[in-house]
Amino acid sequence: MALRPSSLPLRVRLFEMAPRDGLQNEPGAMVPTATKIELIHRLANAGIRHIEAASFVSPTWVPQMSDATEVMQGITRTPGVVYSALTPNLKGLENALAAGVDEVAVFGAASEAFSQKNINCSIAESLERFEPVLKRAQEANVRVRGYVSCVLGCPYEGDIPPEKVAQVAKALYDMGCYEISLGDTIGVGTPLAAKRMIEAVSRQVPIDRLAAHFHDTYGMAIANLYAVMEEGISVIDAATGGLGGCPYAKGASGNVATEDVLYLLEGLGIETGIDLQAVLDTGHWITQALGRKPTSNVALARVLS
Ligand code: HMG
Ligand code: MG
Repeated sequence: MALRPSSLPLRVRLFEMAPRDGLQNEPGAMVPTATKIELIHRLANAGIRHIEAASFVSPTWVPQMSDATEVMQGITRTPGVVYSALTPNLKGLENALAAGVDEVAVFGAASEAFSQKNINCSIAESLERFEPVLKRAQEANVRVRGYVSCVLGCPYEGDIPPEKVAQVAKALYDMGCYEISLGDTIGVGTPLAAKRMIEAVSRQVPIDRLAAHFHDTYGMAIANLYAVMEEGISVIDAATGGLGGCPYAKGASGNVATEDVLYLLEGLGIETGIDLQAVLDTGHWITQALGRKPTSNVALARVLS
């Protein structure tokens, strides 16, 4: 039994990203709707309780997510699982509500250039655009998560000051987002930078309302997660198979793999309620369906051993 250092959380809530962040940037043909639905079923069966299942964005901008309604309506719900989706504006929200989502998310950025490339407006305009989304979601009794992208660096602007991240996170929190997920969109962060960013944001937003959403482009995500758990972070976004990337962030390779996060947490004696072997099987299954191997180190090691 591992001895958990007292600076680390007892339990971590894992938010699974593979069906959305994992597949949104998949090149080539559309991933079949049936494959997306089976992926979501397998993740729920593995014990994952928060799944970002779809994205109600413009189909012109992100064609891979254009079957969001069919995916949401095609899944068989597991009681206790929250199925969420991205909604960049009111149109996305109305479509998501009609499709029966449990929860939605708005997504902003700490970088002006990335905001323009990703959602075609400035940071200030995005915050204005999110207000009616929050209001309408509250009327519908649907919780809203908020993302801030480029929290540890931007593909267009380079370094991003932690104070800028804190400012955008606070605006989303004050607007009513129940949780703010902090995205290292291009995976350039290192542990001290990640800690300093969390310190700055947690002066504006309570630490138990923050989540870490780290991509693994430079192989630093696991180290960065350990560092921010020491700061009090206990919600982690990850994608099975290490799938993922943002179409508007060159160099944004996969999210940190769920398998690797679970292996880390198990080794630390931190509870998640998720079955690592079932996630490993799912990672092999989905990456095979996509014609490649998982990028998860744990998945590769377990196949080799
Ligand atoms: P726009 O072109 O400025 O929108 O796009 P618009 O309001 O001018 O509308 C243009 C057309 O799009 C209209 O259709 C609208 O109806 C339609 P037309 O009249 O020309 O036929 N439209 C929509 N259709 C379906 N669903 C909608 C929708 N909205 C407008 N929701 C917009 C603005 C925000 C829509 C666009 O830029 C967009 O969809 N961007 C999404 C980009 C995206 O999904 N990026 C990846 C997700 S973010 C991410 O991965 C980062 C994250 O993981 C965290 C991290 O890693 O940092 C979250
Ligand atoms: Mg992401």
